Amino acid sequence: MTVAAEQTTELPGFTVFFPPGENHRINAAVAALKRLGIRRLRVPLMEEPARPGDNGAGWAGVLLPRLAAEFDVLACLPSDASDALINAVGPLSDILDGIEIAMAPGKPASALRRATDLAAHFKALGFHTVVSGIEMTSLDLMMASDGGLRAVDAIGISTHQGTGITSWEGWSGIITSYRQILESRGAAPRLWITGAGFSTWRHDDRGQIRAFLSAAEAPADRVYWSSFQDIAPFEKSGQGFHADERDYFQGIVRADGSPKLLGRLLEQGGISALRAVDRLSRPAPARPALAEKPVVITGGAGFIGTNLADRLARDGHRVIVYDNLSRAGVERNIDWLKATHGNAVTYGLADSLDPYVLRDAVAQANRMFHFAAQVAVTTSLVDPVTDFEINARGTVNLLEAIRAQPEPPPLVFTSTNKVYGKLGDVGLELDGKRYAPADPAIRARGIDESRPLDFYSPYGASKGSADQYVLDYCRTFDLPTAVFRMSCIYGPHQFGTEDQGWVAHFLIRALQGSPITLYGDGYQVRDILFVDDLVDAMIAAQTHMPAIRGKAFNIGGGPTNATSLVELLDRIGEAAGCRPDISYGPWRPGDQLYYVSDTSRFGSATGWKPRTGIAKGIGRLADWLAENRIIEPSELERVAS
Ligand SMILES: NC(=O)c1ccc[n+]([C@@H]2O[C@H](COP(=O)([O-])OP(=O)(O)OC[C@H]3O[C@@H](n4cnc5c(N)ncnc54)[C@H](O)[C@@H]3O)[C@@H](O)[C@H]2O)c1
Repeated sequence: MTVAAEQTTELPGFTVFFPPGENHRINAAVAALKRLGIRRLRVPLMEEPARPGDNGAGWAGVLLPRLAAEFDVLACLPSDASDALINAVGPLSDILDGIEIAMAPGKPASALRRATDLAAHFKALGFHTVVSGIEMTSLDLMMASDGGLRAVDAIGISTHQGTGITSWEGWSGIITSYRQILESRGAAPRLWITGAGFSTWRHDDRGQIRAFLSAAEAPADRVYWSSFQDIAPFEKSGQGFHADERDYFQGIVRADGSPKLLGRLLEQGGISALRAVDRLSRPAPARPALAEKPVVITGGAGFIGTNLADRLARDGHRVIVYDNLSRAGVERNIDWLKATHGNAVTYGLADSLDPYVLRDAVAQANRMFHFAAQVAVTTSLVDPVTDFEINARGTVNLLEAIRAQPEPPPLVFTSTNKVYGKLGDVGLELDGKRYAPADPAIRARGIDESRPLDFYSPYGASKGSADQYVLDYCRTFDLPTAVFRMSCIYGPHQFGTEDQGWVAHFLIRALQGSPITLYGDGYQVRDILFVDDLVDAMIAAQTHMPAIRGKAFNIGGGPTNATSLVELLDRIGEAAGCRPDISYGPWRPGDQLYYVSDTSRFGSATGWKPRTGIAKGIGRLADWLAENRIIEPSELERVAS
C-alpha cells in the first residue's frame, strides 16, 4: 500500500481491563501492547470482596506495579470507590502517571463534591489528578463551588460511538465547548479524552478506524482509546461490566486476542497505515446518474474479485468493491485497481456481516458477485463458528438484502468442489505420478453436478450451506441466482498461501528458493483454471442468467488442465529454473485424491470453455509475481511491521 509522508500523530494510550485475579491475561496483553508501541495505559480498578487477612492492597497492589514497570499508568477509580480501593492506590504516587476519578453520568451534586474531595486527597499525596465524566453543565457548577478545580490537573471527556446509529460531529466541537467554559472562569486544567471508543458489534471496522483517527487527531492534551481488547462472552455476567451487549466490542483485538483490522493496521504501519486505508475507502465524489448501475463485488479486493473488477472496468462498467481486508495484503489490490481505473472502481471498507452495508450495496447494484468468504479449510478447523458466520450467515444476509429489492440484482456465488466431500467412492489407480479414475467416463470428463453432496470440514459445510441457500432462494423466492462450484483457480493478484491458493504459493516459494510441504503423497489431482478463463465464465453467467438461474455448475480447468501436485512442481521447477525442495506432511481432513471438473453443463448453457493451458497460465503468473516482487503474505506482514 502506498503510504505518503504524514505529519506524525501520537499513538493514543489504551484502556485495559484486568478483573481481579486475572493474572494469566497480563503477560499476553503486555506483549501485544508493547508490539504496538503503546506507552500509556488507563487501568480501571474494580472493587473486590474483602478477604480475611487482606492487607487492603488487594488486586490493585498487584496489578498496578506490574503494569507501571513497563508503561505510564493512569489508574482509574469510580467516584464512589470504597475506602479499601482508595487506600490501596494511595501509596503508589511514585510509580503511577496519575489517578482518574470517574463520575458516572447523571450523578447528583454530592457526587461532584465527592470527586473534588477525592482529587484533593490524591493531589495531597503527590498524584497528578484527572476528573472525568463531568457533564458540561456540571462543570460550571463545580468551578463555582468551594475548592472548585484547584486539585484537578485535567478534565477527562469520554464518548463512545458505534453502539447506536447516532450522528457524530467529531471531537473538535466538544473540546472547544469545554475549553470555552474553562477559560470563561479562568480555570487552567488540561483537557484529556479519557474514553474514545467505537464498538464493532455490527462489524463496522471502517467506522472504528475513522473514530480512532478522529480521536488521535483531536485537539486534546492527551487521548486514551477504549479499549484494547473485547470482552469474552463468559465474562458478560460479571459484576462491573456493561449492560449493553454492544459495549463488548470496543477493542482493537478480539476477546481471543486476534487483531481486528484496526489492530492489524496499527501493528503493520501505525497511524499512517490507518490513514492510507481510510483514504482508499473514502466514498467517491457524487457522480451524475448513469444509465447503468454499477456491478457490486463482495470480497472484491481478493484475488478473483480484483481480476473480475479489472475486466469489468476495462469493458466500461462501473464497479463497487466491498471488502473488509481480512486477508492481509489485499490493500495492494485496491491500490492497484484505483491506480489503473480511477473512479470507475469504488472501494468500500465493509464487512459482509454488516446488514446495513449489504442493504446499501444491493440497492446500488445492477449485478452482484458474492466472493467475501473465509476461504481456508485449515482456519475453519480452528474456528468453525466464525467460518460459519462469514460463509453461511453472511450469504443468507446478502440473499435477504437482495430479496428486499423491488428488482433483485442477479447474483453469482462462488462455492467449492469441497461440497462433494472426499469422493472416496471414485475408484482410482496410480498412473505415473498421478491418481486417475478407473471409470473411463470419469477419466475422460471429470466429476459432474449429479454427484451427491457430502459436505466435509466446517469450510465444506459452511460453503455448502451457502451454496444451497443461493439455489433455494431462486426456487423459493424466484431470485436470479447461480452457483459456481469451483476447483483451483490461479493467476495474477493471488497472494497464495499453503492454506489457500496453492498454485501461487508453490510458485512464490520456488521463486524464493524456499522449500515446499506437500500434504499427502503429492499424487492427488486437481484441474487448475487460469483466472482470466474464470472471469470469462462469470461474465457469461450474468449474460445467460435467465437460462442458468437456480443451477449449480462445476467450474475448473477440466481434464485437459488436470495435474497432480508433483507434476505441477516439475513444471514450476522448469519455469522457475530450479525445482523446490519438498517435504511431506499428513493428509488434511477432507482432501480429495482426485477432483477434476466436468464443465460440460456450463459449457452447453453458455458456450464457455477454458482457453489458457497450464504452461501458459503458469508462465503468466510467474511473470506477474516477478514483476511485482511478490513475497509470501506471512513475510509481507513481518516486513511491514
Ligand atoms: N481461489 C480459488 O481457488 C477458489 C476455489 C473455490 C472457491 N473459491 C471462492 O471464491 C471466492 C473468492 O476467492 P479468492 O481466491 O478470491 O479469495 P481471497 O481470499 O483472495 O478473497 C476473498 C476476499 O474476501 C474478503 N473477505 C473475507 N471475509 C469478508 C467479510 N466478512 N466481509 C468482506 N470481505 C471479506 C477478504 O479480505 C478477501 O479479500 C471465495 O468465496 C472462495 O471461497 C475460490
